[in-house]
This record gives sequence, structure tokens and C-alpha cells, in this order.
Amino acid sequence: MKATRRSFIKQLSGGVIGGLALISVPSASRARYIISENQNIGLRDEEFWKVVRQQFPLNDKRTYLNNGTMGPSPFVVLETVKNHMTDIDTTGHYGGWEVARGRLASFVGVEEKEISLTHNVTEGINIVTWGLPLKRGDEVIMTTHEHAGNALPWLNRARLDGIRIRTFEPAMTADENLNRINDLINKKTRVIAVPHVSCTIGLVLPVKEISKLGHDKGLFVFIDGAHGPGTMNLNMKEIGCDFYASCCHKWMVGPKGTGFLFVDQSMLDTLQTYWIGGHSDTGWDLTVDPPVFNGYVATAHRYDFATQNASIYIGVAASIDFLNSIGMKNIITRGRGLAKHLQDALLDMGDKIEMLTPTEDRSRGFVNGFRIKNMQHSDFGKLATKRKFRIRLVGEAKLNSIRISTHLYNNFDEVDRFIELVKEVA
Ligand SMILES: Cc1ncc(COP(=O)(O)O)c(C=O)c1O
Repeated sequence: MKATRRSFIKQLSGGVIGGLALISVPSASRARYIISENQNIGLRDEEFWKVVRQQFPLNDKRTYLNNGTMGPSPFVVLETVKNHMTDIDTTGHYGGWEVARGRLASFVGVEEKEISLTHNVTEGINIVTWGLPLKRGDEVIMTTHEHAGNALPWLNRARLDGIRIRTFEPAMTADENLNRINDLINKKTRVIAVPHVSCTIGLVLPVKEISKLGHDKGLFVFIDGAHGPGTMNLNMKEIGCDFYASCCHKWMVGPKGTGFLFVDQSMLDTLQTYWIGGHSDTGWDLTVDPPVFNGYVATAHRYDFATQNASIYIGVAASIDFLNSIGMKNIITRGRGLAKHLQDALLDMGDKIEMLTPTEDRSRGFVNGFRIKNMQHSDFGKLATKRKFRIRLVGEAKLNSIRISTHLYNNFDEVDRFIELVKEVA
């Protein structure tokens, strides 16, 4: 069915109409529902994107361009969490967080048993860093642009266990990045541990080719996927990595303190689990001598345990429903389109701007990194704050640069106002 724009968006009092997906929002928000049926929404279909924006508590007093750090949740997610919290504190109901495991598995194309529920990206990274069978002298390859979340766990294992970290400076093309990784591989290499998208300049690495390269050489491949889900259609099986750690509190616009770790099922018995508890096991008994521990469950559930905040994981399911009802294809068009609009405008400023993000299509996404030639990044940061822009300054890799993230709730007007600010000082 070819639907008109009008059929995507309607102000309704409720109910399901013609099987279309509905997103309910509190009455405080002007638009009560978004209706979409996986249609193609245009990059500049402002009527539609305006309604999307209205689903978020963001207001016009501040321009939020820092989704790479934290993704604001839409009302529907906030309401879901709040209602569930109230419910469990009323009824004492225990459990319910399992719903997120299945939803996350379908969202990233894997089986439910391959998902461990975590609380952030870094937790998943620590599980992998410590669970892999590595010995003194074994080498791990990563970029010089790692976030603390991927740098520190490996540096810690290097400090405590004597593994060696080898780094490469990210390049501007997928081919060159692959070459740089390949050049670092030697007989001692055991792991490639790189970001899917760098936190510094939004460089998208060719993770499928990296996984193949790693596996051809007998290596473990771990991807720090902080910026993957919510900015691309993901299928872990197509990527082919062994492990992928991510969070739901950035681009998935889910509740804060939620994340997941994908562990390919073939790796379950290789990746040791050092922290376990209730739900990780298949049985134990302390009343016999010697005490019995039967072992771990046959799933990635072995890496997570004990009581969880069910409300926030139920909120994760709501955020996945929210993204799906808008359509990942449409979100990708919008996020990438806004980022490209900004990148093109910055490139047009010529040598006043140093663009750090690749222009190669497959190596860029929702994030731009750049420097202004005649202004310190920190001074620009202060000015941007004064003008009510929320941006991120990048100290990682001593880049001293500016990072701008654009997501589904941003619009061209906001990006144009930011471009004007850069023009004014550049
Ligand atoms: C690439 C990358 N890895 C890891 C992290 C850490 O994420 P979390 O705070 O969810 O552990 C971030 C956070 O910004 C990141 O950008």
C-alpha cells in the first residue's frame, strides 16, 4: 500500500487503526500518536520528523547535539519505566527483565541465548576482557581512539596479567583501516578489539571485513558497539564477530544503565565467567560434602545474574518498539542525512575547518568530528554552551576537537543554527 504522509501521522484519541503501529505518549505532548507502517519517510519530511521530536521531553531552549554520550528517551519509554516501577512497588512483583533479552536478540539478529543483559557498554567489555583465555605476552589490537570503556579494561588486564596492547591510528577509509590492522598481526596476536564507530570522530570501521580477517588468522574478534544499535541495521551473524558489547542508553534512546553483550554461542565455553550468581547456574548444593556446583546455564545468561531493575529492561523493549515503529531505515536516513548536511557545510568553509570524520560513505554515520583552525576547542565549547548548544569536546587521543551527534529528534533548523555559530567564529 502506498500511503500518503497524512496516514503516518494523526492526532488520535487512541486505539489501533488498521493494524498500524501506535506509540502512545502522555497528554502533555502535543502529538498523541505516531502512526507509521514501515513506509519510506523522506529525509526532509519535516511534518513527520516534527511529530517524532514531540515524543521527546527535549525543549527548544537548548539544542541537544550530544546523543553520542547519552540518548534522551521518548515519553513512551519514560512512562513505561515509571508505570512499571510504580507497579512493582505496589504489588511486590519480582522479575520481568527477561523480556529485554528476546527483544534485543531480534533487534541485532541473534538468538536469545547469545545475549547477556548488562548495564552499560563497559560492563560487557570487562566480561570479554577478563573471560578470554590470554596469557602474558599475548597481543590485543585496538585503535588509538578508544573510549575509556574499551581502553581501561584491556589496559588493566595488561597491568595485572601482562598482555600487550598494540594500537593503530585510524585512517579515513575502510580499506586503509583494514590494512593497518593486518599490519599489526603477528604470531602473538590473539584479539582484535576495536569500536564499530569511534567515539572521537564517528569513524565507522569495516567490522565485517575485520571479523573475517581476524578469523582467518585464528583471532578472537571483539567489537565495542556503543554507537552501533540505533544508527544502523545490525545483524551480528552477518558481521561475524565473536563478541559485541553495547548499551541501550545512547542511540537506542532507552533507559540509562541498560546494555547488552552478544556472545556467539560457539564462544560460550571459551569465554570464562568469573562473576556469577542466581540464574547463571544449573544447580548447586551446599548440604552435601563436598558441595556441588553443576555448572553454568547453556546460554549467555551465565554472565548476568541476580536481581535486576526489571523496569528499565522493560523500558528497553519499549525503546525497541519505538525505533521499530518509526523504522530503522527512516532513522538511518534522518541521522545520516543531518550529519551529512553538517559535514558538507563544514567542508564548504574550506581551510578554516579541519574535518576529522571521513567523507567515505561507508566510514561515516551520525557523528561528525572537527576542529576550528583559529579557535581552541575548549573556547568553542564555552561559547556553544552559552548559546545553548549541548555538544561534546573530544580529549581522547589528544584530539582536542569538537563532536556533534545528530539523531532522529534533531532537525535541519538546529543543525543550520549550529553551522551559523561555527561560521561566526571561523
Ligand atoms: C566507543 C565507546 N565505547 C564505550 C563507551 C562506554 O559506554 P558506557 O558508559 O555505556 O559503558 C562509550 C561511551 O561513550 C563509547 O563511546
